[in-house]
Amino acid sequence: MKRTCVIVGAGHRAMAYASHAREHPDRMEVIGVADPVELRRQQAAGMFDLDPANIFSSAEDLAARPKMADFVINGTMDHEHVPTSLPLLRRGYDILLEKPFATNPTEMWDLVETAGETGCKVAICHVLRHAPFYAAIRREVVDGAIGDIININAVEHVSYHHMAVGYVRGKWRRSDQCKSPMLMSKSCHDLDLITWMKSGIAPRRVSSFGSNMQFRPENAPRDSGTRCLVDCPIEGECLYSARKHYLDHPKRWAAYAWSSLEHLESPSIEKMTESLKTSPYGQCVWKTDMNVVDHQSVVIEFEDGATATLNMVGGSAKPLRALHLIGTHGEIQGCLEDDRYVVRHIDPRPGHEFSERTVDLNETGDKTGAHGGHAGGDSRLVGDFLDYLDGNEPSISTTSLEDSVAGHLIGFCAHQSMAENKVVEITMRR
Ligand SMILES: NC(=O)c1ccc[n+]([C@@H]2O[C@H](COP(=O)([O-])OP(=O)(O)OC[C@H]3O[C@@H](n4cnc5c(N)ncnc54)[C@H](O)[C@@H]3O)[C@@H](O)[C@H]2O)c1
Repeated sequence: MKRTCVIVGAGHRAMAYASHAREHPDRMEVIGVADPVELRRQQAAGMFDLDPANIFSSAEDLAARPKMADFVINGTMDHEHVPTSLPLLRRGYDILLEKPFATNPTEMWDLVETAGETGCKVAICHVLRHAPFYAAIRREVVDGAIGDIININAVEHVSYHHMAVGYVRGKWRRSDQCKSPMLMSKSCHDLDLITWMKSGIAPRRVSSFGSNMQFRPENAPRDSGTRCLVDCPIEGECLYSARKHYLDHPKRWAAYAWSSLEHLESPSIEKMTESLKTSPYGQCVWKTDMNVVDHQSVVIEFEDGATATLNMVGGSAKPLRALHLIGTHGEIQGCLEDDRYVVRHIDPRPGHEFSERTVDLNETGDKTGAHGGHAGGDSRLVGDFLDYLDGNEPSISTTSLEDSVAGHLIGFCAHQSMAENKVVEITMRR
């Protein structure tokens, strides 16, 4: 069945999901947009040939009108997710909502309750659940390949250039502005994956440590300036030079680094250079106003006694997401970037120690149809959401709002644990 949708918050995330309509016009049609920024409204209107009557200056404006589409894609920023979603739910819209879907427990429960009262469907953009690598591992767990999970060891290494563009110079560098600490804005996916693997078993308590160790003024190289292209005599030797990160890789983080040039179709290198002299992306990484961590470790205990750890580390040379599950009957270990994992079982026979089965998703055909961002997760997420609306058998990855609560609660409690230096008990209700 073909579904109609309105884009709410026409930033780069919502537009990426909306592009599903161009690839699958038989399943989805974008018929409207709501965004306070005129340029973004125009871009969406041009891309989807929108009727001017269906262009709104905010989610609230859209919600004030009679319902005009089957669902909305809400790609606003973290702290806008709940305030923009509540009136849309009351208007009867199902919602595909970006993560983190709330920035504190109070608004999280407000959203859960309102969705429950209205009966609307809300699915969270936990795109990694839809990546073939994690979906295949979850399938192994559901099929009993390793028995009951005793321990999960999850690792997220955020590369030096990703760390700098998002959390040192970028939009998520101050938790008082974006309202999300780095654990939530970056690794709520990984917390979600942990709770997904333990599905049906509630987390009981959490403990966490972390800090910003690297990106501090006292660590700035001697004689460094405040802006790479303005007053820094050591820019040529610096690993975090804005010239090296952005001008030498102009496409890598274009949506962030060149956001001030969004009005230009293809900005020249001169314009980009000029922008770095004033935009946040030209700041010395040791002298910004960031207040988030650059690394954080989280330890979780589940109600069946299982444990899990997440190590989020920013500033690595290579990006990495690794997962190691140990169960009562075996273990699974792999790394997203390789799209390969191994399943091991005890083998006590003479001359043996363990058996090992390697699953290489590059060879199995499981990646068919998976392309684009988040190891293929972005494109599969929207298709799965449309199936969910149609009432089809949900895919193994489909994330309802209730499913997402446990991972978010762990994140909120981990932040509290780190800030207050104590173990925090998790309550799975308001
Ligand atoms: N799923 C993922 O893996 C993933 C990856 C990156 C970012 N994100 C999340 O996606 C979200 C969006 O990120 P982005 O970089 O695309 O943001 P963005 O700032 O580019 O886009 C947000 C848009 O929302 C609009 N907006 C603000 N208030 C509004 C309102 N009241 N009504 C309608 N529109 C409104 C803004 O004008 C802007 O155009 C963030 O929450 C971010 O954390 C998710």
